Amino acid sequence: MIVVTGATGNVGRTLTQALAEAGEQVTAVSRHTAAVPSGVRHVQADLGRPQGLAAVLDGAKALFLLLSGDLHAPEARPADLIDLAAASGVRRVVLLSSQGVATRPLGPTRIAMRALEDAVRKSGLDWAVLRPGGFASNAFAWAESVRTQGVVAAPFGDIGVPVV
Ligand SMILES: NC(=O)c1ccc[n+]([C@@H]2O[C@H](COP(=O)([O-])OP(=O)(O)OC[C@H]3O[C@@H](n4cnc5c(N)ncnc54)[C@H](OP(=O)(O)O)[C@@H]3O)[C@@H](O)[C@H]2O)c1
Repeated sequence: MIVVTGATGNVGRTLTQALAEAGEQVTAVSRHTAAVPSGVRHVQADLGRPQGLAAVLDGAKALFLLLSGDLHAPEARPADLIDLAAASGVRRVVLLSSQGVATRPLGPTRIAMRALEDAVRKSGLDWAVLRPGGFASNAFAWAESVRTQGVVAAPFGDIGVPVV
């Protein structure tokens, strides 16, 4: 069984669908209820409260770990999730990190993510760390300024930046 966190968002929703279509047994995790593909088990859990995840991880062979919102804060302790996964018998973890860990290493959220990357590497589990650049879905954040002012604001207006 593979546990997918952030399972109802941009990345997790697509990943969950792909794994289900590949015949994998998937447990999809998010805080709120949501429709998931047929055959997928959905569990409501908050990654900010790792103790509640033990039952979710029980019997899992792999974990796809995606952090969102407050979980990027310096005071968050997402590395606890790695210890919990290892203790639950998970053998492989895939962490969705960010290119920013390398390009803006001193940003507060980058410090937290780098610490989590280190925890993954030291966990003794098989691991992969993904460091994507910006997502095309970030453009939705411009909706309000486009609607009200007809403006898109970005700090690098003359530079082409590839998006995922
Ligand atoms: N956007 C970028 O340009 C970019 C670039 C590089 C890396 N990333 C990484 O990608 C992440 C965003 O991925 P995305 O676009 O797929 O996110 P998204 O669409 O915002 O979805 C977030 C998912 O996480 C769940 N979630 C949020 N807080 C949670 C919590 N405390 N406990 C459990 N589940 C929680 C949400 O469901 P509920 O709300 O129901 O819990 C939802 O399923 C970023 O946080 C960053 O780590 C993003």
